[in-house]
Parts: sequence; structure tokens; C-alpha cells
Amino acid sequence: TPDNSGWPNATQHSQAAYPVDSEFTAKWTRADAMQIKRISDPQAPSGSSSLPQDYTMPNIDNGFPTTSEDVWVWDTWTLTDAAANQISYNGWEVIFALVADRHAGYTFDDRHTNARLGYFYRKAGTETSAEGGASASNGEWIYGGHVFPDGATGAIFDDQGYSHQTEWSGSTRLMEGNKLRTFFTSVAFYRDAGNEKAADPHIVQSEGRIYADDNGVWFTGFRDQHDLLVPDGHYYQSNVQNPYVNFRDPFTFRDQNNTSDTTDYMVFEGNSAYARDASFSEAAAAAGHNSTPATCTEADLGYQDGDPQAETVDAVNEAGGYYQLANVGLARATNKAMTSWEYLPPLLSGNCVNDQTERPQIYFQDGKYYLFTISHRSTYASGMDGPEGVYGFVGNGLRSDYQPMNQSTGIALGNEVNLNYNAGTPYEPDWNQSPYEFQSYSHYVMPGGLVESFIDSIGGNHDNNPTRGGSLAPTVKLNISGENSTVDRAYGHNGLGGFGHIPANTARSNGGDV
Ligand code: FRU
Repeated sequence: TPDNSGWPNATQHSQAAYPVDSEFTAKWTRADAMQIKRISDPQAPSGSSSLPQDYTMPNIDNGFPTTSEDVWVWDTWTLTDAAANQISYNGWEVIFALVADRHAGYTFDDRHTNARLGYFYRKAGTETSAEGGASASNGEWIYGGHVFPDGATGAIFDDQGYSHQTEWSGSTRLMEGNKLRTFFTSVAFYRDAGNEKAADPHIVQSEGRIYADDNGVWFTGFRDQHDLLVPDGHYYQSNVQNPYVNFRDPFTFRDQNNTSDTTDYMVFEGNSAYARDASFSEAAAAAGHNSTPATCTEADLGYQDGDPQAETVDAVNEAGGYYQLANVGLARATNKAMTSWEYLPPLLSGNCVNDQTERPQIYFQDGKYYLFTISHRSTYASGMDGPEGVYGFVGNGLRSDYQPMNQSTGIALGNEVNLNYNAGTPYEPDWNQSPYEFQSYSHYVMPGGLVESFIDSIGGNHDNNPTRGGSLAPTVKLNISGENSTVDRAYGHNGLGGFGHIPANTARSNGGDV
């Protein structure tokens, strides 16, 4: 038994499986997330990390190669099949990435409202090294341009009077022949005076075709847009219940531990469907959505009976803990073309713990289901704390009582951070922070435990200016076993592999089978 003196015990999670359509939602509790503070070193000096090396990403030097001189690059994924294998097509590796024009007059921090989906390709088998600073290989990715024709992804919105419209994260499946289905988030923002209202995120699918010859890779199609999902206000919070709602990042897959189930599933980032507070109840009711104001419950706190370190529900609510309502959503396709979907109850909620469980994915290993998701320090609820990076949960079924990995902390791959000091921001880091607190984000776990991400901000503590990123980070490797994982420091150079090392593990050519 761990020495929990001074800290509460974690919630007990059985990992037991439940039917996929049952109402059981696993809880990432405050008692669980409190374990992060338990393992954080309260004596870690200014500028250093307070978290164990086994759970943190090795440090990236602030001299790093630029992926593209044309565009900033952030959230990235590959061409996949239903098992998340990464497919090379006609000898080319292909990645999809959110991109924004480096030369359009806005800053890196304005990228979110200027995001387009772009793609890159390189010869399959390209090897790169993380050594050598800014002159190191950038992964040799060739920028192919935007995926969608200009204007195509804005057409779905009833109100065309948006001030910005963006393409946010998702996933791309290679189907039979050369058919692609791209799942992504189309968001309309209404920020113009006279038409100011909540952002409107939709999960969308668009079909295209991939072609490749000796000179490179190109697409056709991707013009028609299938509007798949908007939040229902019952399982998934709507923008009527909360104008700051998070709803995005579809990832589709089939259950690899139960191949007799040929359903196509989707996990996505959502929020629990309460009214943000009482002031939103009336509008929620008028829309036919749940009008109950958010409140933290004993189950959200998850303390064991009689734990002397437990918080009280009243104290957590008085501190406003109910403003953070992350969940990982689940939906299933009801037709083969995956243009029609129905919601199932969320797989996981982090009510009163954190507001964002982003880019969720299901990873299959040794008969287990690993739910990986990325989150931020700044989106934790009052009284909770943790690093930027990947959080992992393991269970015995797609729907199960998920156990947060690594001593119940849930941290699978955090950036180094000093939890004894303020967070600061990527553009204005705290003087006392680890220079690596914001080094990378939007990690995606690939076959074999490899993890890719993008560089956000390095340095900036102790009065230096941070170096901003917008390029692919060095790939790292997780060794995953049961409830535990460690960052493999023997991988690559001190644990860092090549910049943008995003290898295919499956080859396909001209309409051939996987
Ligand atoms: C993660 C993320 C995604 C979203 C995108 C927007 O980095 O917040 O959830 O799709 O960035 O830029």
C-alpha cells in the first residue's frame, strides 16, 4: 500500500466491463486527480520539474527544425484503418494536421480561429534523428496544401454570418480502394458586433479520394460535407447550456478486442450536459435540453468512506468546482458510410476535475482498452492541478470502470512542470516555472507506444523570452504494461526520437487491401 499520509486515497476502480450501450460512465474523480499532487515533489526548486521522470516527456532543446516555412503545424494524425494502423499509400506516408498561414499577419496564438486542415507526405520509411538542433532533419515532410476546397467546410452552418470558421481536429480512415473518410470538427464563431453569440461546433465527415505517384500525393473530393453531430443537451452539453462548451475531435475505430463487433465507434471531446449555472437554465429548457445547473456530487469527488483527507461536497461547490465538466463521448455509426450516428452515454466524465479531455483515442493492447486523452493545467477545477500532456485510463471493456494509470495519477506523458509555482501561459511563462511546461501538446499515441505531438513554447522562465513552436516535436515512446507506463529514456537520443517521426506500420497500394 502506498504511503498516502497527508493525502486522500484514490477512488477504487474495478476496470470491469459494462455493455457498450449501458448508462455507466466511469468517473475520473477529484480523489484520483489528487494523486498527482501526492507524487509531486513539494521541495522542487524554482525552474525544475516536480514530477517523476518516468511520467514526463524528455526536454526538447529550443533550437529545433521548422516543419514548414509556410504554415504553423499543430494537432496531427495519420491515415488509419479501423484498428488505428498507420497506412502508407503507394509508398508515401501521409499525415493530416491543423495548419495556419505563418505569413498572414496574425500570431501563433491566433491560430485556433484561423485553422485549416492541411496534409503532408514523405517517402515511407524515412528515418530522422532528434539530434543536431535547428539543423536536424524536420522529418522531410512535404506540405501538400489544404485538404478541403476553400469555403467547403463553412457551408453546413444555418447562420452564414460567422466572423471566423475553422477546421479543428479529427481522424481520417482509408476505406476500400482509394476512398477516404475524414472526420473533423467544423466550428463557426460569431464575434462581430451585432451578431455576437456562442461558437457552434459540429462533428462532420467528408469523403475524398487519395492518389499518389512518384511525385507525391493528392486528393480529390472533400467538397460535400455530412453534418454528423451537434451536442444533444442530454448526454453532451450544448452551447445553449454553456457558451464555452467543448465539443470536438472525433476519432473512429472498431473494437479490436472483440472483432465479432463490427460497429464503427467514435470517441470525442465533450462536456457533461448540465446548465453552466442557474442563469443558463431557462434557455436550456427552452431548447429542450437539461436545465439542471451543474453541481459537484459525492461520486465526482470519489473519496473513500471515512477518508480523513476528503474534501466536502459543499466546499468544492463553493469554490466553483462545477464549472469544469469534461467528458469523453461515445457514438456509434448506424450506416456503413458512417454518415449517420447515434449518441451513447459518455465513457468517462471528469466533472469537477477538469474541463477538457481532448483528442480522445482508444488504444488496444494485451486485451485491455486504453483511453488516452490530452489535457491542460489551466483547465483543471479549483483545487486540482496537473501537467499539460497525455492522460491514460485502462479498463477491460470499451465501456468500463476505467482506472487512471500510474498510481491513479492518470498521467501517462506530462510535460515537466513545477506544481509549486504558478502556471503562466505559453506566451508569458511564470518566472519560476520549468522551461518545458508548455514544450509540446496535442499528443497522439501511435502503434507500438510511439507518441507524436507539436512544439508549443519552450523556455521563457527566469526572464527569457519563450521560443514558440508550430512544428512537429520529436517522437517519444511509452512502455505500456497493465496499469502502468513509463517514458522510454533509452529510445532515440535520451528518449527523444526524430522530429515528426510518424511512421506507417502498414502498406497499401492502388486499391489493394490492407
Ligand atoms: C487540441 C485542440 C483540439 C482542437 C484544436 C483547435 O490542441 O484544442 O481539441 O481540435 O486544438 O486548435
